[in-house]
Amino acid sequence: MQITDFNPNIVAFCCNWCSYAGADLAGTSRLQYPVQVRIIKVPCSCRVDPLFILRAFQRGADGVAVCGCHPGDCHYATGNYYTRRRMALLHNMLDFMGIERDRMLLQWVSAAEGAKFAKTMTDFVENIHMLGKNTRLADWRVVNAGNNETES
Ligand code: FES
Repeated sequence: MQITDFNPNIVAFCCNWCSYAGADLAGTSRLQYPVQVRIIKVPCSCRVDPLFILRAFQRGADGVAVCGCHPGDCHYATGNYYTRRRMALLHNMLDFMGIERDRMLLQWVSAAEGAKFAKTMTDFVENIHMLGKNTRLADWRVVNAGNNETES
């Protein structure tokens, strides 16, 4: 791992039924994963609109992970199949926008895979360290907050 002052912001969307339980298992098993990972619990991975991910990048996330049940195990039968298709399209869109596709991760983690969750997050944070800060979608409303007073 590169040693820098860079402290990445990582958002992880985890589905309630498998991945969030996997993250919980990692915690109760005292498995360590980076503190920079902020978990957002969603009912199903298919609840994650690709716009949520773009918005996270816009608001300062350096990496975004979406974690769901393994294919065939979704609590809502086919939700993660939709997720898989959407995220494939989003990867292409990130390429088009000039955002490194490795900043977005899709991973299947079951409720019994606490160790996998911890390893996935550790590896992901390490990759984001290598990529550096995400500045491509800096939110101009925040950046120019002080400059708008003269425009209206
Ligand atoms: Fe976990 Fe659908 S409930 S991916």
